[in-house]
Amino acid sequence: MGKALDGIKILDFTHVQSGPTCTQLLAWMGADVIKVERAGEGDITRGQLRDIPGVDSLYFTMLNHNKRSITVDGKNPKGKAILETLVKHCDVLVENFAPGALDRMGLTWEHIQTLNPRMVVASVKGFGPGPYEDCKVYENVAQCAGGSASTTGFDDGPPLVTGAQIGDSGTGLHLALGIVAALYQRNTTGRGQRVLAAMQDGVLNLCRVKLRDQQRLARTGVMDEYPQYPNGKFGEAVPRAGNASGGGQPGWILKCKGWETDPNAYIYFIVQAPVWKDICGVIGRPEWLTDPRYATPKMRLPHLMEIFGGIEEWTRTKTKFEAMDILNQHDIPCGPILSMKEIAEEPSLRKTGTVVEVDHPTRGKYLSVGNPIKMSDSATEVTRSPLLGEHTDQVLAELGYGAEQIAALRAEKVI
Ligand code: COA
Repeated sequence: MGKALDGIKILDFTHVQSGPTCTQLLAWMGADVIKVERAGEGDITRGQLRDIPGVDSLYFTMLNHNKRSITVDGKNPKGKAILETLVKHCDVLVENFAPGALDRMGLTWEHIQTLNPRMVVASVKGFGPGPYEDCKVYENVAQCAGGSASTTGFDDGPPLVTGAQIGDSGTGLHLALGIVAALYQRNTTGRGQRVLAAMQDGVLNLCRVKLRDQQRLARTGVMDEYPQYPNGKFGEAVPRAGNASGGGQPGWILKCKGWETDPNAYIYFIVQAPVWKDICGVIGRPEWLTDPRYATPKMRLPHLMEIFGGIEEWTRTKTKFEAMDILNQHDIPCGPILSMKEIAEEPSLRKTGTVVEVDHPTRGKYLSVGNPIKMSDSATEVTRSPLLGEHTDQVLAELGYGAEQIAALRAEKVI
């Protein structure tokens, strides 16, 4: 079966996480992704967090599936010539170097345009134009600068970063969308364009509900679905809301059977207004239905913690899966807190290709996430990440380099 991005060639200068997630998505959709690395070390993540000595780390392998790897020293004039040939040969250049590094390599936007005016040049940077534009940025810096950390955690604790890599993988996703849109626009304009996804902007985009709440707070001084209401204090900025739901339906994380020994024996429970009657019935609190304090969703808001306490008395008698089964029979929205172990072992996720097992020549079998985007006419087959420089000869041959030239370049340590 064909793929959505068949025929699109990507010159991939990405490293670490944000850029590689973007180009991996494009590869999963059928693009030919040629990852350029330096001989010797390559992408720094090949050697980071290694669990098997001398073998590409899971950090690297899980971000670089379906790509080809070539080694080129971009600072050597002959290496630069290879890169320029690649610019002419490819449709998209993707990079997430620190600000200025691509220019220092000689690949300015102006120069790229003279080589290939159809090329889309896509970058992840930590910040957009402004006071921090020259800063290097990693995941947690972006989470902090994008508004996530100040709004995550509990009111009486410090700001918290989340395990979801919203700064890196989140920005990679944003960039991939920008690239596909730029390729689409190229169909009419015939020209490439620059695409920038700044990590601060990507995190803020994902935290938009908190910017919504900032304005509500400024206007009213109080937000009655937050745990600070009615007994705590609101300041000038959106506070940390613990496990409160970000939307209009109150929710909280409640203990389930076994919580004393299992750190993940919990369920997320949403007190959705339309199923209030069912909630009272299921948990055995019919008296709540006639309790005047709980008569309407608005009247229940000041009593949310008592209500969740009462519901928890019921959830503590059930495992999270038993509770899930019972609650779903009544369309009561809820979700088990799944551990990574449970997710890794979940058969339905294997069946859909959301979790895949991949074989690697030096690592052996390992698990990875597959493509979370499912397309009916462009199915994804996840193939292993490349070894460092595995495709150098193949790609150079495609660019017209002969075997002797390739051998000479290798002898001169250009590749
Ligand atoms: N040939 C020659 N030189 C190469 C090369 C190649 N094939 N590939 C990389 N390099 C060089 C670059 O030219 C650059 O050299 P220079 O600084 O002398 O110009 C250097 O390697 C890489 O630079 P840099 O990006 O600064 O790497 P770093 O490890 O110091 O910083 C980051 C890492 C992630 C902090 C930084 O790249 C960054 O801020 N990126 C943008 C934001 C981002 O994506 N962050 C999330 C990462 S998950």
